[in-house]
Amino acid sequence: MTDWIQRWKDGKIGWHRQSVNSKLIEFINCLALQSGDSIFVPLCGKSQDMVYLLEQGFKVIGVEVSQLAIEQFFSENHLRYSLKKTQSFSIYQAENITLYCGDYFALKASDLKSISGVYDRASLIALPIDLRAKYVRHLYSIIPSACRVLLLTLNYPQQQMSGPPYALSESEVVSLFSKGFECQQLQCFNDIENEPKFLHAGVDFIEKATYCLQKEK
Ligand SMILES: C[S@@+](CC[C@H](N)C(=O)[O-])C[C@H]1O[C@@H](n2cnc3c(N)ncnc32)[C@H](O)[C@@H]1O
Repeated sequence: MTDWIQRWKDGKIGWHRQSVNSKLIEFINCLALQSGDSIFVPLCGKSQDMVYLLEQGFKVIGVEVSQLAIEQFFSENHLRYSLKKTQSFSIYQAENITLYCGDYFALKASDLKSISGVYDRASLIALPIDLRAKYVRHLYSIIPSACRVLLLTLNYPQQQMSGPPYALSESEVVSLFSKGFECQQLQCFNDIENEPKFLHAGVDFIEKATYCLQKEK
């Protein structure tokens, strides 16, 4: 976690995008949300996707270990916040959005009891292999039953480039979510032409995949 905090301090945030992720726009309906519903964004950074979710009439709950990321999110989007401290988190709150500053693994089900969906872009794939199963088990333990998850992943020959982001194949996703989730792949395509960093590193392909998962009822 200290690595991530340092990355934010050094401004090494190559994953951050100024624009909204097109797959969120394309597939948000799979979450079957109603206006006013709350959506959880794990490892949220200062993602503009959260602004899109707010604009669609949803409430957002995020968790992010870097205080800098959260403060940049609020200042860059001209949102005034209030701050509350608990034992595990500094909690930043503005209208319809609550960002927990601290460790994802310290979140409890009581923090997320109001959520109806989860949006994971560059979160699961940010974690090294040894933390993935723990991430998914924790997700299962903190989200309500029947909650759906929109998950975006990448897969590429890991031996051709080191992560993060770490490669995650369809079979690994199916296996990670096999206990307690239904898993459906919505889309998968090779996008190497639009990934100059991977192209220049000589990576043969980069598959971008979208999944809709649902926690058992
Ligand atoms: C690759 S970035 C993705 C950010 C965001 N999802 C996006 O799409 O821009 C991963 C983020 O997770 C945060 N992070 C890593 N480990 C964490 C943890 N255990 N708890 C909370 N945040 C964490 C990092 O600080 C970083 O901002």
